[in-house]
Amino acid sequence: MSDTTQPDIYETYRDQRANRPVYKEPDGAWQVARHKDVQQVLKDNATYSSDVSLVPEEERTTPSMLFSDPPIHNRLRKLVSYAFKPGHIESQRRLIEQRCEDLMQAMKQSEEAELVEALAAPLPVTVIAYMLGVEDGDIRKFKEWSDTIFSNIGEILLANPSPEASAASEQMDKYFLGRIAALRDTPRDNLLSRLIATETEDGKLSNEELLSFCRLLLIAGNETTTGLITGIVRVFNDMPDTFAELKDNPALIPTFVEETLRVHSPFSVTIRKTTRDVEVAGVTIPANEMLLPMIACANRDESVFDEPEKFKIDRNPNPHLAFGFGIHNCLGAHLARLEGQIVAASMIKHMNGIKLKPGSENEFGQLGGPSTLNVAIEWAT
Ligand code: HEM
Repeated sequence: MSDTTQPDIYETYRDQRANRPVYKEPDGAWQVARHKDVQQVLKDNATYSSDVSLVPEEERTTPSMLFSDPPIHNRLRKLVSYAFKPGHIESQRRLIEQRCEDLMQAMKQSEEAELVEALAAPLPVTVIAYMLGVEDGDIRKFKEWSDTIFSNIGEILLANPSPEASAASEQMDKYFLGRIAALRDTPRDNLLSRLIATETEDGKLSNEELLSFCRLLLIAGNETTTGLITGIVRVFNDMPDTFAELKDNPALIPTFVEETLRVHSPFSVTIRKTTRDVEVAGVTIPANEMLLPMIACANRDESVFDEPEKFKIDRNPNPHLAFGFGIHNCLGAHLARLEGQIVAASMIKHMNGIKLKPGSENEFGQLGGPSTLNVAIEWAT
């Protein structure tokens, strides 16, 4: 595979896996590079806590599922999983296909596009907005809040959000409290409405927990899926043969999407905190230290993947960690795969090829994927 962008990142990853599988920058967190170790860190949630917030306990709002440990995590995940059942997600297929088709038709006006704005951002936002029962006229506002919150995610996690991010969070919370009240009165066929109604032996979700879940979906499900879509374009650009192969054999789309997730992992790194002294790859990490399981690096580990730098359209098995592992594994994985597969199918139907415009490759390498991506498109006639 031709790595036209950021070859140095993957070079560095290779060096880390070989020579510094557990590595700490001065004043930084411990970076964990190998597949085996990343998987173990994600699996052993007793030793590696997800409760990484630096906000003092007394100032915390309701914890989100992603940043909590059992038993809090079990309760939230159980309540929410019900509404994420594959049948409920599959029922969104038509909506996603229709939205993708509309966006594609709008793009057809030109041989060029800024792909993030035209497709990769609006598609996941619409899907999540629909799940959360956002009214059609409010989607633009919802997208603005989501962008502001995501671009400040580091500060938010470290309890130091910018005034802009705090204002966006407040407005969004107010909006969703209104929606929750409306859906309690008049239930609808969407995920938020189902969550409001869900009751198990663990009780029901409170308004605060419902809000926290709305916030989490924005953070976890939007930019990551945008990253998957831009990753797909990146593969088509770097290896135009894959485009032709998929046109000839669309049955390869599922393995193509898995391989894209492996090679261009949108959630490239996550975070944990040690609860005790622990040894990883021969290095002792003390308790209460921050740790970065490097998902994108693990996904190119030569001891697990044959020719890891090569994009193999039919790689199977493909034990990548792009959706995490263990109790926090991605709840939206089925939905994200569905979106990726629908986008790939739509592209091969409507296009003969898609290329990054010069300079666009420099946009890759960020957590959720590039924020802009200029492309030239050859439309199928
Ligand atoms: C290609 C797109 C996506 C990728 C690569 C991705 C990746 C991930 C990863 C790696 C984690 C685990 C993080 C950790 O253990 O620290 C995670 C968790 C999660 N994801 Fe995704 N995600 C994607 C799309 C989505 C979507 C579309 C949704 C929902 C609409 C979603 C909802 C969640 C939730 C709720 C969690 C937390 C699960 C828990 O803590 O138990 N994700 N995701």
